Amino acid sequence: MSKEQEHATSEPAPVIADGMTLGVVGAGVMGRTLIRGLMNSGLIDRQRIWAGDKNGATCESVGQELEIPVEVDFQHRVPTADLILVCVKPADAPVVLATIRNAGLRRETLLISILAGVATDRLESLLGSENPVVRAMPNTPCVVGEGMTVVCRGRYAAKSDLERATQIFEAVGKCIPVDEIHFNAVTALSGSGPAYQFLIMESFADAGVRVGLPRQLALTLVAQTALGAARMVLATGRHPAALRDDVTTPAGCTIAGLLMLEDGRIRSVLARAVEEAAKIAAHLGVAPTKISETAAGQRAGR
Ligand SMILES: NC(=O)c1ccc[n+]([C@@H]2O[C@H](COP(=O)([O-])OP(=O)(O)OC[C@H]3O[C@@H](n4cnc5c(N)ncnc54)[C@H](OP(=O)(O)O)[C@@H]3O)[C@@H](O)[C@H]2O)c1
Repeated sequence: MSKEQEHATSEPAPVIADGMTLGVVGAGVMGRTLIRGLMNSGLIDRQRIWAGDKNGATCESVGQELEIPVEVDFQHRVPTADLILVCVKPADAPVVLATIRNAGLRRETLLISILAGVATDRLESLLGSENPVVRAMPNTPCVVGEGMTVVCRGRYAAKSDLERATQIFEAVGKCIPVDEIHFNAVTALSGSGPAYQFLIMESFADAGVRVGLPRQLALTLVAQTALGAARMVLATGRHPAALRDDVTTPAGCTIAGLLMLEDGRIRSVLARAVEEAAKIAAHLGVAPTKISETAAGQRAGR
């Protein structure tokens, strides 16, 4: 039985206990988004959250906005944390994980990383300890409680650690455990996905303007239509093609529009975009020298 099947068949345990302290290292877009979402959900008290960032101005603005301690010198807080959420860029992982380890990290503290492309075995070796590690791939709609996150666990993490991480991300949307082998694909599909959806919505809003609608009205129509269609897919469990057939009247305007989209090869364009993003995701956690070696190898036909 895989670790994920084992997780799926067990009863969920109440894993975020009262009085747990959460540290967030990297208070950028995702760090702030997750802290805000967690505070709004009520899962963890504001008084039990601290953050660290290397940029003093970020510390000041995020500290004021979220009313939590955000410090450049966050090391003294590391021993207080039961969970540490690492939200820096993948390239900063070596420095940040060494800083956390050397700051008196307790052996039982759960480290949750959202770094794209950095595998659990690399996180464990950079950390250089046997702390439980969970790797997650969230996306920005966490800020409105509609995030999509997947999680997997490292070698020293127990099922309960994966459940604790799942609870964190369920506070800001949906969260599903998946095998780590799928992470590059997930990064390309749902991690980068909001950006694709924004581009598509922007294009449809332009289309609305083209056929005579005021821009703001067009954007509202497009965004609510996207939300409604997504809800229908999730709520009915029906195949999108079946839902599409329901609204495609013979000789009507919808089939005319659909055929134009097919003429523009919309399916293969979207699939190729995700395929390309997955290739990049596979290199995000790799040292720059290795990327250039790989790129050189690809140019040489390897
Ligand atoms: N954005 C997304 O949609 C998304 C989705 C899924 C996963 N992710 C992952 O989330 C991670 C963070 O992305 P992001 O967009 O939030 O990046 P970001 O806005 O650049 O935030 C990262 C923050 O970490 C700080 N930092 C860098 N080195 C540090 C250090 N040594 N100690 C403490 N803080 C440090 C950065 O400060 P400086 O600005 O001064 O460098 C910055 O404020 C990335 O690994 C990314 O792969 C992002």
